[in-house]
Amino acid sequence: MEDMNADRALLVATGVRKIYRTGSVEVTALLDLDLLVHHGEMVAVMGPSGSGKTTLLNCLSGLDDIDGGRVEVDGHDLFAMSDAARTEHRAHTMGFVFQAFNLIPVFSAVENVELPLLLVGTRPREARGRALDMLDRVGLGHRVEHRPSEMSGGEQQRVTIARALAGRPAIVWADEPTGNLDSAMAEQVMDLLCALNRDEGQTIVLVTHDSAIGARVPRLIRMRDGQLVDDVRQAVTAPAAIRDIPTG
Ligand SMILES: Nc1ncnc2c1ncn2[C@@H]1O[C@H](COP(=O)(O)OP(=O)(O)O)[C@@H](O)[C@H]1O
Ligand SMILES: [Mg+2]
Repeated sequence: MEDMNADRALLVATGVRKIYRTGSVEVTALLDLDLLVHHGEMVAVMGPSGSGKTTLLNCLSGLDDIDGGRVEVDGHDLFAMSDAARTEHRAHTMGFVFQAFNLIPVFSAVENVELPLLLVGTRPREARGRALDMLDRVGLGHRVEHRPSEMSGGEQQRVTIARALAGRPAIVWADEPTGNLDSAMAEQVMDLLCALNRDEGQTIVLVTHDSAIGARVPRLIRMRDGQLVDDVRQAVTAPAAIRDIPTG
């Protein structure tokens, strides 16, 4: 790999434990979980419903608290920081793509993408320029003034990917990013994520219960009952170049 960061650890999780308490009922959703992800890796996390995939993403990104262990992202111990510092660190280091697109309906594509940049204090002119660049990168240069309701599901998910990338995050977390898409659109969104990883070295951790998606990702981790039970590197079919991925 030509990326000089490729051997540097980006995410180091050790002994992570997460227990949900609802009344007197306790569910151990993560049990002493260890995970190391290097810069430039793309990792798929698979496992049956309820195995802890979403919890893993929420805890390793610091969106949710943990009950034990330690998570370091880009050299910073997430749970040794104040909530405010963690939020700030997240805004500068991480991008998120969820199954529900979470786009603001009255905003155009470019306004949706630039919003998080404006929220961290980027100057409007720079935010606009970067948002337009990102939309171009995901193949939506011709849709920048469209509102979410005027785009297909696949296009909307590309807008959320552009939004996730706009802050130039070290890591992108994606939880079932194709869960709301038909198979053709799911394929295009996966083409895009795989190409961003292969061509631009973007680190991506992607949660899916779909084995067709897992099969496309170079490193595949399996979870069961809150534990990692498998971690394999696999040969994958190369994605199309970003420019060649159709929109629709
Ligand atoms: N907010 C919550 N409160 C209580 N239990 C939860 C909560 N979120 C998830 N769980 C439980 O934790 C386990 C893991 O859930 P989750 O991480 O959502 O799994 P997955 O994403 O693999 O389907 C499940 O048993 C689930 O019921
Ligand atoms: Mg889930």
